[in-house]
Amino acid sequence: MNQDTGRRQSATALASAAAAAGYAPSVHNTQPWRWRIVANGLELFAERSRQLNATDAPGQLLLVSCGAALDHARVALAAEGWTAEVERLPDGTQPDLLARLRLTGRTPVTAEAVRLAQTMRFRHTDRRPVSDEPLPADALRAIKDAVSPEARIHTLSSDQILELAAAASRAAAVEAAEPEIREEIEYWTGRARPAGTGLPADVLPEREQQTTVPGRDFGRAGTLPIGPGHDRVAVYAVLYGDEDDPCDWLRAGEALSAGWLRATELGVSVVPLSGVIEVASTRQTLRALLAGLGHPYLVLRLGIADSEHAGPPYTPRLPVAQIVDTSGA
Ligand SMILES: Cc1cc2nc3c(=O)[nH]c(=O)nc-3n(C[C@H](O)[C@H](O)[C@H](O)COP(=O)(O)O)c2cc1C
Repeated sequence: MNQDTGRRQSATALASAAAAAGYAPSVHNTQPWRWRIVANGLELFAERSRQLNATDAPGQLLLVSCGAALDHARVALAAEGWTAEVERLPDGTQPDLLARLRLTGRTPVTAEAVRLAQTMRFRHTDRRPVSDEPLPADALRAIKDAVSPEARIHTLSSDQILELAAAASRAAAVEAAEPEIREEIEYWTGRARPAGTGLPADVLPEREQQTTVPGRDFGRAGTLPIGPGHDRVAVYAVLYGDEDDPCDWLRAGEALSAGWLRATELGVSVVPLSGVIEVASTRQTLRALLAGLGHPYLVLRLGIADSEHAGPPYTPRLPVAQIVDTSGA
């Protein structure tokens, strides 16, 4: 293979990896990322115009979302037989440059890598109550393994779930009393949201659920039928890590992506709950629940989805041309 062919192949792989990263989950489906294709690599930028300035003023959930996109890009590259090296927050003078990814070589494509890349296309958030089928212990172990070493998962005991439930209600009340946060939710679930982003009515539950831990209050009823289920056998877990720096939140997103893709492969539904993280006092409650283990990044509800009724459709995504800059390729 001559150099030109090699360069063309790597540029094509980078462009399709950046495009595939668009399938990543993000808070309110804001997709707050932008990619630039550069010689032999990708640069990932925070897109501040899609940051939730009231709900997520410090930008930590933006970093988690971008971290998930970063992991998605690596998964896509691995499925094409490329290895890559990632430098997180590589330039102190450019805080919005979140990561530089550089191709380092070729590797044999494994069936597992291809499967994981395909999983990115059908992973989604299913907010219906989970079924009564308990989560198999080996599935939970596999998800815990997948998030490591970027972050760790602590599963909550039944007493801790009650504390989480109280904290989630408190966080919802605090946020409901903040007009700017309410406006943000209205915007990302309403008609004025940018095309290809946000939460359409058909992914939001048709009514409030009778669950121990309340899901996020999106301020409006959706059209997703939720059936009679509960969250009695759901597993609630905290994604956490040692530190609280921007780099750690980015890594938390990479961990979220890896754990969620693995969960999807195993038929496990994952719903992130970030309200308790967004509100300082309830984040502190979670920190106490972790009893010195580390800093909480996100709460996750894990369970087996009701397979007898149709789940939600897929949320929309921004056109690739809006998130991938190929001019430097
Ligand atoms: C950092 C983060 C926080 C999230 N917080 C919540 C949440 O509190 N409640 C919820 O129902 N979904 C939450 N989600 C799920 C997103 O709304 C979802 O990923 C997004 O709408 C895209 O939809 P999809 O996951 O079906 O592709 C969160 C996702 C991320 C990445």
